[in-house]
Order: sequence, then structure tokens, then C-alpha cells
Amino acid sequence: MDTNDSADALGGSRYSELEFNAPLDRAHAQRLVASLRPLTGASIVDLGCGWAELLLRVLEDEPTTRGVGVDRDAPSIARARLNAEARGVHDRVRLVCEDAAAWSDEADVAIVIGSSHAWGGTQATLQGARPLLRPGGRLLLGEGFWERPPTPDALAALGARVDEFATLAGLVDLCLAQGYRLVALSTASLAEWDDFESRYCAGRERWLLRYPDAPQAARVRAEVDAHRSGWLHGYRGVLGFAYLTLVAPPR
Ligand SMILES: C[S@@+](CC[C@H](N)C(=O)[O-])C[C@H]1O[C@@H](n2cnc3c(N)ncnc32)[C@H](O)[C@@H]1O
Repeated sequence: MDTNDSADALGGSRYSELEFNAPLDRAHAQRLVASLRPLTGASIVDLGCGWAELLLRVLEDEPTTRGVGVDRDAPSIARARLNAEARGVHDRVRLVCEDAAAWSDEADVAIVIGSSHAWGGTQATLQGARPLLRPGGRLLLGEGFWERPPTPDALAALGARVDEFATLAGLVDLCLAQGYRLVALSTASLAEWDDFESRYCAGRERWLLRYPDAPQAARVRAEVDAHRSGWLHGYRGVLGFAYLTLVAPPR
């Protein structure tokens, strides 16, 4: 076995089994796209887009839209470009490897799913998105919240502080306090969470199946075991994930 082959495959294995890098299934994704309508002629920016799966779905769903996906992870942007080409929407999307928090071009719709840490938290994200949104503009925010008060095991597994997330009601209140209006709210089901975590682990497990004797195998096995344990013994059912479709306040 060529060690370089296993090292290359390791880099790609982390997200290889995931469709979205968030707890989200296809039917739920379609409901999120619908929540953003009207989309005719709209410009969409997806900040911290990963491989831009949701953005590409918006573009496919509404052929008059144009989009930009921004992420600082080059392999994710490369995957997004390949997917855009394969779906025939590449001429309506720009995919750039940049800092999302520094983005300043205006849009009708901004998507920020699982990437508020780029701004340093939810409140800063809500403030940062505001000047980007045209009048009537919408923000689709995907954000964690505490389903239950976090246990020490949950906090340790996530490497999080208690005040890093609000309750669901607290999260909505934060958005309203920043002047946004809430037009749709949904949360990831436990089934979506389990599928997300399980697929995340599966990327590494498939690599281990293929390269059991690679020099990195012991480290990868330990990492995936620690991740699975942190999920199942720590934050499963404790950390929730909400999707909020918000209308931006007037500037
Ligand atoms: C949990 S993933 C979510 C990806 C995508 N929104 C999705 O739902 O599939 C968070 C993403 O934010 C990106 N990210 C984090 N900080 C960033 C920053 N400052 N600028 C651009 N992207 C960032 C990461 O590279 C990662 O792709």
C-alpha cells in the first residue's frame, strides 16, 4: 500500500459520507428552501457554505437565482465547484475560498448554517449579516441551542461553555432583539442528528476499513472513538440545532 494514497484519502474521508455538514435531511432542506421564497431573481450568499449543498439546492429550485458560496476550507470549495458543475448551475454560482466574516457584497438572501463562530457567536452574526441584506432581505440561520441544560460530559465533548448556546426560546429572543422578524422555525430531529453523527464517523470508519495498517490508523481510530463517545455519552439529545428564517430589520 502506498502511504501517500492513505494520507490523501484520510483528508477527504472526514466529510465523505455527509450530504450536508449539519443535521439536516433532504425533506427538511426542501422546507428551508421553500421558507426563503419569494426567490425570483434573488441573489443568495452562503457564508461558511462548506460544499454549498443548500445553496446549490436553492439555485436548482429557482433557476432565476444567482449565488455566492464563501468558505475558508479549500477542499470543501473544490467539492462545491464539482457539485455545481455536475448539477449544471456553475454558470450562476461563484464559490470562493475566503473569510466569511469579511464578506461585504449585498444580497437578497444570506445563509449562515453552523458557521456563526466565524463572527464569534450568534449575536455578532446577526449584526454582521444586517448590512449585507437588501431591504426585505432574509437570513437563514442554522444555530445550536440547548435542548436540555448541558451536563459536564456534554460540555467537555463539545469543548463548549454553557453560555455559548441559548435555549430555543432564548435564541429566538436574541434574533428579535436584533430587530429581525421570524418567518419560519424548525429544529433538527433526533433522527437527523443521529444520521449526521453516524455519517461523520462513517467517513473515518470506511477509511480504516480500507487502510487498517496505515501509519495514521491508530490515531484515526482513537479520534473517531472519542467523537462517537462524546456524541453518545455527552451531547446527544442535549445540543439541539435550529433553523430560523428571519427577515432583516430596516437599515
Ligand atoms: C458546520 S460547517 C457548515 C457548512 C455548511 N453551512 C453546511 O451546512 O453544510 C461550518 C463551516 O464554516 C466554515 N467556516 C468557519 N469559519 C469560517 C470563516 N471565518 N470563513 C469562512 N468559512 C468558515 C468551515 O470551514 C465549515 O465549512
